[in-house]
Amino acid sequence: MKSSAILLSFLTIFVLADCKKKATEEVTSPEEELKTDGRKLYIANCIACHSGDPKQDGTVGPSLAGSSFELLKAKLIEGKYPAGYAGKRPISGTMPKYPFSDDQIKSLEAFLK
Ligand code: HEC
Repeated sequence: MKSSAILLSFLTIFVLADCKKKATEEVTSPEEELKTDGRKLYIANCIACHSGDPKQDGTVGPSLAGSSFELLKAKLIEGKYPAGYAGKRPISGTMPKYPFSDDQIKSLEAFLK
């Protein structure tokens, strides 16, 4: 009798721990984390010129929704468009370069998707 009660409490703890694990996994999926990082970078660096809603044109820069990794990397690191991509606007020299890492650029890409 006593041992079955102990067994039951162990089982309960195990089931609760497992539920908790699942809940935290959902909240911080790698994709969500990437998007959150990208959103922070975007708000800190881009919305002075681009719109807070990436689907809209900003006060200075064009809409950025759907920008590819290649486009972001070329524009941010080199200040150019990637080969074969006709930019929405001619390069004006208004936008500064940003020495972001590939991981940071991936997070921006995820946020802008
Ligand atoms: C000082 C203003 C300014 C800031 C800040 C700025 N941009 Fe821009 N951006 C522009 C302008 C203006 C253009 C239009 C092309 C040009 O003039 O170079 C542009 C164009 C772009 C393009 C090309 C879009 C296309 O499809 O043709 C991308 C991508 C881009 N910006 C990404 C960013 C990101 C990401 C950030 C933040 C890390 C950022 N920009 C910050 C002004 C800015």
